[in-house]
Amino acid sequence: MPTDPPGAPRADTLLAAAGRRPEWTHGLVNPPVARGSTVVYASVAEMEEAARAPDSRLYYGRRGTQTAWALAEALTALEPGAEGTMLFPSGVAAIATAILATCRPGAHLLVPDSAYEPTAAFVFGFGRDHGLTAEAYDPLLDGAGIARLFRPETALLLLESPGSLSFEVQDVPALAAAARAAGIPTLLDNSWAASWFFKGIPAGCDMVMQSLTKYVAGHSDLLMGAVSATPALLPRLRRAAHALGQCVSADDAALALRGYRTLGVRLRHQQESALAIARALAGHPLVARVLHPALPSCPGHATFLRDFSGSSGLFGFELTLDGPDLAARFCDPMHHFRLGFSWGGYESLIIPARAARRLPQPPRGARFRVSIGLEDPADLLADLEAALARVAP
Ligand SMILES: Cc1ncc(COP(=O)(O)O)c(C=O)c1O
Repeated sequence: MPTDPPGAPRADTLLAAAGRRPEWTHGLVNPPVARGSTVVYASVAEMEEAARAPDSRLYYGRRGTQTAWALAEALTALEPGAEGTMLFPSGVAAIATAILATCRPGAHLLVPDSAYEPTAAFVFGFGRDHGLTAEAYDPLLDGAGIARLFRPETALLLLESPGSLSFEVQDVPALAAAARAAGIPTLLDNSWAASWFFKGIPAGCDMVMQSLTKYVAGHSDLLMGAVSATPALLPRLRRAAHALGQCVSADDAALALRGYRTLGVRLRHQQESALAIARALAGHPLVARVLHPALPSCPGHATFLRDFSGSSGLFGFELTLDGPDLAARFCDPMHHFRLGFSWGGYESLIIPARAARRLPQPPRGARFRVSIGLEDPADLLADLEAALARVAP
């Protein structure tokens, strides 16, 4: 029977297929969990051959085995235009390495005011100790605004969109274009969109990081980070990753790859539930503002509508009330939400947002962040409505 020639795979098809090279899977559906430090060679010639392609031939455990290579290749497929992906034992390790790959002592780098706290801590603390000068900027700046902050020694523009606690959506294409025009590389923390609802490399970024701990892993049972980079930046990133000994275990890579296969269905469910809950909260008299990029009340909403194909399950909301014990009264007896940092798993989480860090825009009342999981949204909404009833004056 004649068949049409296959076109480029659509997004979900890509999730099912990426990284499954026959030479890595050896007839199985998935690449085996190939654990190992030492590789033994049959000859000196074979050893020398492996040294020439250490990221796709067995060379030494730190350079990975087929389990990690398959995951890296699958992640590269999520960012068209990326040359490759390096894996790290956490998202924080990924960010730190990408910064060190681009910034030498004396360098200036720009970081959004809304950045994830450990990112800010790295650039303003450890980075300063090692000769870097970091400067915070308003995440809602446009291209001309960011260009005014560039200095001759600016070596990196960090982006995080939306901010993972305050949810401002950045104009990534404009900011990345301004940086590229000035010869400054960009690093986008794309964890919220999981390189699924937003693609950073096509938007003009040079390096796109995501904490795989969140949506790709999806089950809150591992820590891992990834940076996908353009052909121009990948050699610098790889050099820094190797110099710092960054690597991941085959067991964790296999788990992350398992999560990757179901990323699309999970994100669609989480998107739908989160939107339903966010809209319901927006209509509640005790909720002053919902910080969900898909709702008009979120700073940068117009940019979200222009650039994103959808929204994930993490958002914030502010109450009309506050008080010293309000967070405890609101959160402590939750039934379906658990109190916990991180996000992106199948289980719903809540945190009082001010517990985590400084916010660029002071909240109007008590602020909370929720990560919506795979539970029935009606149960989750009932949990939040009960919490609102508890704190009602
Ligand atoms: C936006 C953002 N980036 C990076 C990270 C760090 O990821 P990891 O926990 O994998 O180190 C987090 C973790 O919460 C995060 O929220």
